Amino acid sequence: MYETVVDLTTGHWIQLILAESNKTLMKLFATIFYLTIFLSSLFSYYFFKKEKRRHKNRAKLPPGSMGWPCIGETLQMYTQDPNVFFASKLKRYGDIFKTQILGYPCVMLASPEAARFVLGAQPQLFKPTYPKSKENLIGPSALFFHTGNYHTCVRKLVQSSFSPEVTQKLTPDIEKIALFSLESWANGQVINTFHEMKKYAFEVGILSIFGQLNKTYTDKLKENYSILEKGYNCFPTKLPGTAYHKSLMARRRLNQILGEIVKERKEKKLLTNNLLGHLLNFRDEKGNALSEEQIADNIIGVLFAAQDTTASVLTWILKYLNDDPKLLDVVKGEQKALCESDYGENQSLTWSMTRKMPLTYKVILESLRKASIISFTFREAAVDIEYDGYLIPKGWKVMPLFRNIHHNPEFFAHPEQFDPFRFENPPKPNTYMPFGYGIHACPGNELAKLEMLVLLHHMLTKYRWELVGPSDLIQYSPFPVPEHGLRARFKKEF
Ligand code: HEM
Repeated sequence: MYETVVDLTTGHWIQLILAESNKTLMKLFATIFYLTIFLSSLFSYYFFKKEKRRHKNRAKLPPGSMGWPCIGETLQMYTQDPNVFFASKLKRYGDIFKTQILGYPCVMLASPEAARFVLGAQPQLFKPTYPKSKENLIGPSALFFHTGNYHTCVRKLVQSSFSPEVTQKLTPDIEKIALFSLESWANGQVINTFHEMKKYAFEVGILSIFGQLNKTYTDKLKENYSILEKGYNCFPTKLPGTAYHKSLMARRRLNQILGEIVKERKEKKLLTNNLLGHLLNFRDEKGNALSEEQIADNIIGVLFAAQDTTASVLTWILKYLNDDPKLLDVVKGEQKALCESDYGENQSLTWSMTRKMPLTYKVILESLRKASIISFTFREAAVDIEYDGYLIPKGWKVMPLFRNIHHNPEFFAHPEQFDPFRFENPPKPNTYMPFGYGIHACPGNELAKLEMLVLLHHMLTKYRWELVGPSDLIQYSPFPVPEHGLRARFKKEF
């Protein structure tokens, strides 16, 4: 370095200075380079460490199998008895497990706490979810497809239309329908019990929605509704001639019929204390009424919710009583004693008499438990939700499994036994949910119980029945009912 300095000219000095400054710069760059690498490695180390920690803290998906790509475990669930499918999953994975049904990832929940968590949660967390094809048939404005303000408003109207105070006034008219139905069964013919119970539940549904409705309208509604319902569970193709297409056409005609009824009611100012009256009288805070479409969708929605449910429970009651002759005798005894002590001059049933049927009422409760005709319901996670250490990702379907809760021996001893006396003590909290729970719980449960009590009273005091053919298998239509709808022959007792 010294030699170099001696031999240097000014130019060399400049070069030397440049060279020296280059070296310094190089060193500076190198230092910056190594510092950058060091700092970024340090940063990455902390970043990945943090990420790892975040993942570690983040809930994991529930255990379970998603099955085959796209179809998931749909075939397993639908080709075997659904009870077997659920039982095997619960045994393997516990009360919360994931699966994939019809292409949808699902989380299934079989503990009362989990069911309560989902059904009682804020609507921002879980929303109702139904196949689009069903929504088109029932009508997209029916309350059970909604959450939020619209749902709250319509639900209030529906609840007030089916409140105990309103339904009890329907007792004499429900009784007429029950007596007429029973009379029509006792003609020596074998009946399909489920089909006949459906007719009964439909007539009661019409009564509770419209009050008195003239026969022409009732017949038109009946005819078109029976075409409509055939489309609920079939392949949704709009090709003319298919059941789904016929169903859509019937739905349009139902709109026209409902439109005529509404027009007539408005003209005659018949806006009474029934569901149609409440829907027509409604005004929101800005004074807006419900549209005709919203009214029609909610009427069809209520008919849909009221008919097959009540009819299948009634069908199971007949089967369970028939299978236990001793119990049948005791229940008959309760009903006959009531005729002797409480019947007035006109020999008819009153609402207060329906409150004096403790054993018959327990038979209804136990049938709702054992048959659990609504085995589960669906919700969809509206955001990522964590429950019990598990992640339920946004968009996944969530299914509280009512049937599994009702058949859990921890909550109901010997769950396969039909034992109405178990209801002498109330079930543990949240273990008994035949009518659901939370903001979508069944607003028609009082009416359903009343119409069952009225029919059972007359059936048990005035009729005998015998089952025809086998009844041990279960058919799904889509609710479970005994095979062939429980074929039976009715006779009047004198
Ligand atoms: C034994 C008969 C019945 C059973 C077992 C039953 C059961 C249920 C269940 C479990 C739910 C809740 C579904 C969910 O959370 O996803 C429900 C909702 C509903 N039920 Fe019933 N139900 C019966 C009869 C009726 C009757 C007779 C009516 C009407 C008169 C009715 C009207 C409704 C309506 C409108 C909803 C939807 C409520 C909402 O979304 O806010 N149900 N029912």
